[in-house]
Amino acid sequence: MDLGLPSVLADPALPARVRIHEVGARDGLQNESSLVPVEVKAEFITRLAEAGLRTVEATSFVHPKWVPQLADAEQLLPRLSGLRERYEGLRLPVLVPNERGLDRALAHGATEIAVFASATETFAQRNLNRSVDEVLEMFRPVVERATGAGVPVRGYLSMCFGDPWEGPVALEQVVTAGLRLIELGCTELSLGDTIGVATPGQVAALLDGFDRAGVPVGQLAVHFHDTYGQALANTLAALRCGVTVVDSSAGGLGGCPYAKSATGNLATEDLVWMLHGLGIETGVDLRRLAATSAWMARQLGRPSPSRAVQALTGP
Ligand code: HMG
Ligand code: MG
Repeated sequence: MDLGLPSVLADPALPARVRIHEVGARDGLQNESSLVPVEVKAEFITRLAEAGLRTVEATSFVHPKWVPQLADAEQLLPRLSGLRERYEGLRLPVLVPNERGLDRALAHGATEIAVFASATETFAQRNLNRSVDEVLEMFRPVVERATGAGVPVRGYLSMCFGDPWEGPVALEQVVTAGLRLIELGCTELSLGDTIGVATPGQVAALLDGFDRAGVPVGQLAVHFHDTYGQALANTLAALRCGVTVVDSSAGGLGGCPYAKSATGNLATEDLVWMLHGLGIETGVDLRRLAATSAWMARQLGRPSPSRAVQALTGP
């Protein structure tokens, strides 16, 4: 058996294809204690595209004092300007919290953005210095202007399954906040388990909650952090509910500087191993991706936490 590839046994109950929304360069690097040089970030993103990823979240236009790791967003985007011609269908969304961020992003060539809200009040305050209502009001002109300029807006919703300060989060509270993002004009809603506490039954229940609220599953994505090792099981639960967009980060980089106990995202390699084993297409070259994450781990000076990267690239 070739241990570089999983054996394939397809499950007809699952989607034929999944779009991976790669967040390593943003969610991953925003939480690194070391500052990664902009040339290394540009090479990382290029290699992710080379490995077949077609949605690669590049950076955030947030306040540089809040997230110093991404303070080079202005320098990074122009370095990526030729990538979309080189890799057909490549999307390079960036995070934007407010109009100031939108101005910066548009001035540097962003063609897709994401806003990021919270289902809980405490995280809204900690992450964006505002209440949930104020956050959504801050986003309103951002979504309006971006949409008017032909720039699609993804909406992230954090703390969908638990909050380190508030504890468990009621399903209705999450659905209500998600609907508000969709009403603002977000074309896609990514449901975040920011601190990685969810289990598969909760995932199915939340997706059912959105279904009952009339949100088509095609508009939803899932965003799992892997703190308790549940991210892959949670993803499978989401696939069984019809979700076809999954967020993950190459090598399992990640976390969130404003949420204590948030560790890395679901590793893209672990995800791809499972998806390919289930006969689900992703377009990703797993070996090339694992080599990229091993290279990035060397840049960061510590091994990748991804089990698949460890298995595929060795010590
Ligand atoms: P604030 O301190 O309330 O800002 O922060 P303000 O609106 O009062 O403005 C203060 C100053 O900052 C002004 O300058 C603004 O111009 C400037 P002054 O007039 O004093 O000279 N400013 C900016 N400068 C550059 N870029 C900007 C910007 N905005 C204002 N965009 C703010 C509010 C939103 C700026 C701040 O809270 C912030 O940047 N927060 C970002 C936090 C963050 O990036 N968190 C991580 C991403 S979320 C995440 O990881 C979760 C996710 O992965 C999903 C999941 O896992 O659940 C998405
Ligand atoms: Mg995250």
